[in-house]
Amino acid sequence: MARRKIIAGNWKMNMTPTEAVELINTLKPLVATEDADVVFCVPAIDIIPAVEAAKGSNIQIGAENMYFEEKGAYTGEISPAMLTDAGVKYVVLGHSERREYFAETSETVNKKMLKAFEHGITPIMCCGETLTQREQGVTMDFIRQQVKVGFQGVTKEQAAVAVIAYEPIWAIGTGKTATTEQAQEVCKGIRECIAQIYDQATADAIRIQYGGSVNAATAPELFAQPDIDGGLVGGAALKPDFGKIVNWK
Ligand code: PGA
Repeated sequence: MARRKIIAGNWKMNMTPTEAVELINTLKPLVATEDADVVFCVPAIDIIPAVEAAKGSNIQIGAENMYFEEKGAYTGEISPAMLTDAGVKYVVLGHSERREYFAETSETVNKKMLKAFEHGITPIMCCGETLTQREQGVTMDFIRQQVKVGFQGVTKEQAAVAVIAYEPIWAIGTGKTATTEQAQEVCKGIRECIAQIYDQATADAIRIQYGGSVNAATAPELFAQPDIDGGLVGGAALKPDFGKIVNWK
């Protein structure tokens, strides 16, 4: 069974609600495809206008974060029910920027993973090593730990529909894409890790993206790799280039 590609934009802290609608209107015709799932993960305040602007297109709207409690005294947080009610289908969890600047840990990512599944939101769980870890030769050890902790308590049925984004930290926003070989090697390692936690069928079903300076020039070779099922795209998702990335074939 061939896995369906999933190409997601991660807007980060960019685009006001007005700009979000403009960007979606610009990109809508450019990202039209039947061959892949196309997701725009947008800032929380952009979600409602983005869902409205994307209506009638193939664009699905995702969030960039979510809290793991149902509701209550958590000032500033967004609950899973708020996201589903607004029309959100996906949520990015454990992005390296959240781990670095907002004290996100694999344990909190795990709680969010479980909560997202409970609400029928598909998590895009990010993992990835620092340059130091790569140089120390512990890339796969570190990523296996992120994946194993992140997926604790996740059933195999849930894992089969999850998305993992492999994003080497040194390649994010640096213009320095991992080589195709490096990206494929780690994505394959993540799939093997999923096979070990669950079974081969789950590993064959789960979708694994590469992220880190993906652009229209690098996407075709990356996405053609056997274990790379699409991309999580930052900077290039804010430009017409995203249309070329989505239609990489
Ligand atoms: P980038 O960001 O494409 O700008 O490197 C990717 C990401 O952080 O998801």
